[in-house]
Amino acid sequence: MANITVDGKTLEVKEGALLIEELLTNNINIPHFCYHPALGKDGNCRMCMVEIEGQKRPQIACDTPIKNGMIIRTKGANIDRVKRSILELELINHPIDCPICDQAGECQLQNYYMDVGLYESRLSTPKVHGQKHVDLGANVVLDQERCVLCTRCVRFTKNITKTDELGVFARADHSVISTFPGQPLKDPYAMNVVDLCPVGALTSKDFRFHKRVWFLQTEEAICNRCARGCSLYVDHHKEKYKDEMIYRYRPRFNDKVNGYFICDTGRLSYTYENENRNFHPMIRGKESEYEYAEGKLLRLVKRNIGKTLFVISSDLSLEEMVRIKALATMYDAQISAYEPNRFDEHFGDDFLKCNDLSSNARALPLVGIEDHYEGFALGIDKAELIVFIGRSDSGLLKDFSCTTKSIAIVYGYQPEVNEGLELLLPITSHTGRAGTFINCDGIVQFSQCAISHNSEHKKLLELLAMLIGDTLFTCSDVWNEIVCKIECFKELKFDELPKNSQKICL
Ligand code: SF4
Ligand code: SF4
Ligand code: FES
Repeated sequence: MANITVDGKTLEVKEGALLIEELLTNNINIPHFCYHPALGKDGNCRMCMVEIEGQKRPQIACDTPIKNGMIIRTKGANIDRVKRSILELELINHPIDCPICDQAGECQLQNYYMDVGLYESRLSTPKVHGQKHVDLGANVVLDQERCVLCTRCVRFTKNITKTDELGVFARADHSVISTFPGQPLKDPYAMNVVDLCPVGALTSKDFRFHKRVWFLQTEEAICNRCARGCSLYVDHHKEKYKDEMIYRYRPRFNDKVNGYFICDTGRLSYTYENENRNFHPMIRGKESEYEYAEGKLLRLVKRNIGKTLFVISSDLSLEEMVRIKALATMYDAQISAYEPNRFDEHFGDDFLKCNDLSSNARALPLVGIEDHYEGFALGIDKAELIVFIGRSDSGLLKDFSCTTKSIAIVYGYQPEVNEGLELLLPITSHTGRAGTFINCDGIVQFSQCAISHNSEHKKLLELLAMLIGDTLFTCSDVWNEIVCKIECFKELKFDELPKNSQKICL
C-alpha cells in the first residue's frame, strides 16, 4: 500500500496501481473518456489531467502509476484551466446538440461541459461536419459529429470480442469511427459499444428516441436467458393511464459473473416482458375471475392427493422451488423439471453465453428436484393432474396418453399450447418477482427486480402460500427454510446477497 495526498486529503491506496483507478474508487471526480476499467488506458483524450507535486506539467491520471508520498491536485485554478482547454479542443467540431441527443442525461461530455461552463465557441471557422446517421449493424447507429475518438468501441472489438470490426479511418479532424467496407458489426456482444461510448455518438437502434432517460426508473435484476445469469439493470417507466413498460436492459457490473458486459440476446430479451404477458385466467377455455381460478387450482390439487405431477421451470427462483417442494410433500405429489429444449449447442461461446438456457438449474439438486426424462415419464404415468409452473410447454405431453388427465398451467406469459387446458392461471413474469438464482459457476445472486403492472396477478410465492395455507409470502419469509434445508446456504446472509453475489460449493 502507499499513502498519497489528494486535494489535501490523505488516502491509502495500492502502490503501482493506476492513479485514475484509485481516484475513481475513492469517489474523486476525474473527467475521462478513453479510460475504462474493462479496456484499460489509452491516453488519447487527455481529459484526466492532474497536477503532481514535483512534475513540471500536469499529467494524465490514467497513465500514472501510484508512488508512495505523491501529492496530487485535481482542482485549482491551474488544473481547471488545463481541463477547460482540453474540453474546448474536444468540442471544436462537436455539434453540442444535446437537446436532440439520445445520450442526454447520461452523457459524460454533457456533464463535463456543464461543469466547466464553456458555453460560447470561440471559433470563427465553420465546424467540420460528419454524417449524423451511420448504420454500423447489430442495432448500433453512429453519429460521426458527436464522436470524441476515445476508441473505447474500437478497443472493445479488438481486445474483448476480438472481432476487430471497428477502426479509426482518415486523419486529423476528418478521422471517423467506421466498420470495414461490407463488414458490418455483427458479433453477439456488439451492443456493448453503446454503453461504452461516453458520448452520444453510438446509440442503440432499439432504444433511441423511445424514452428520455430521466423518466426511467431502474431496478436490479438477473438475466434469465441462459445459465450465466448476467447482472442487469432494468430501466422502466409507467406513463399516466398506461401500464408499466420496460425500455431496456443494461449490464450491471459484477466481477464474479459478467464483468461490465452482457450479450445482445439477453439485452434484447426485455421485449418478451412487455409483449408476451398473460393477463387472463381461463378455465376450460373461458375467461374467469382470478380468485375463482386460484380456488380452482387449490381444489384440483386437493382432489388429486398422491396423483399430481408438478412440471416446473428451472428458471424459477430458489425460493419458489423450495416452496413447490413443500407443496408437493404436503399433497404427496411428484415434481419434474425435465425440459427437452433446455440446451442449445449453437448458443454458447467462450465468453459469457452458455448452451444451457436455464437460469437456475443448479438449484434443482439442492432442493431435491430431478430433471431427467425417466422421472418425468414415470410421473406422467401415475398422475391424474399435471400442473406446469413457470412454463407452458404442455405440448410435451403429446407422446403420452393424457386424454383423461387434467392439465393446468401457472405462467406469466402467453402459453405455447392453449387447447385442452383445465386451467390457465397467470402469475407475475420474471421482472415482477424477486428471488435467488445460482448460475453455471455456482455464483448465488439475488434478483431484486419486482416491477408491478396494472393488471397484476399474484406472485408465484403468494400463490404457493395460498395453496400451502401459510403466510410465507416473500423471499425473506422463505429464507429460514432455505438455510435450514440447504447445507451450502448456511453461511449466506439474506440481507447481504443483493449487493454481494457469492460463490457456493455445489
Ligand atoms: S464512437 Fe463513442 S466509443 Fe467510439 S470512439 Fe467515438 S466516442 Fe469513443
Ligand atoms: S450471456 Fe446469458 S445470462 Fe448473460 S446476457 Fe446473455 S443470455 Fe443473458
Ligand atoms: S482518460 Fe486519461 S487520457 Fe483519456
